[in-house]
Amino acid sequence: MDILLERKSVRKYTDDPVKDEDLQYILRAAMSAPTACNRRPFEFIVVKDKETHKKIAQIHEAAQMILGAPAAVIVVGDADKVYENYLPQDCAAVTQNALLAATAKGYGSVWCGIYGNDKRMDAFKKLFNLPKNIKPFSLIVIGKSADNNPPKNGWQPEKIKYEKWQ
Ligand SMILES: Cc1cc2nc3c(=O)[nH]c(=O)nc-3n(C[C@H](O)[C@H](O)[C@H](O)COP(=O)(O)O)c2cc1C
Repeated sequence: MDILLERKSVRKYTDDPVKDEDLQYILRAAMSAPTACNRRPFEFIVVKDKETHKKIAQIHEAAQMILGAPAAVIVVGDADKVYENYLPQDCAAVTQNALLAATAKGYGSVWCGIYGNDKRMDAFKKLFNLPKNIKPFSLIVIGKSADNNPPKNGWQPEKIKYEKWQ
């Protein structure tokens, strides 16, 4: 439970690298997410190259934090493998698992949205030479946190209804 409450979006990082074994743990956790009919339509592109980080910053205006980060993972979904229209739900579960795993391993991370923004999706497709069936879903930026702000308090009991809407 602590990990769930500790996770926050981190947009400032130290120069420390993300260890390969930690990255593998994060990807293993991501791959453990539930997917509709267990189709597992996800794939991942790990990006550590600084030049590519610069190119990502040029096509994603809300992902400038990548310029100071050691690593990023792009979650993509295969439209030929997915069950019905569940690609965004599947990839969202995958993305959230990765964020929580990063927190568990002592890293900061942030989910930068791609899917749902046609312009961004096209730009990522081009930059990473994605085939037609591979849909870019999210960009996860990861690194040791240089942000001391506490996580937000997400608890809002008024959001809970019991039995009926009212
Ligand atoms: C679908 C989605 C897209 C997001 N896109 C971005 C983004 O492009 N850039 C960014 O800095 N944060 C992005 N975020 C992170 C949210 O801004 C963040 O989760 C929210 O403000 C709550 O803060 P917290 O994660 O610290 O609890 C995104 C989050 C989600 C779920």
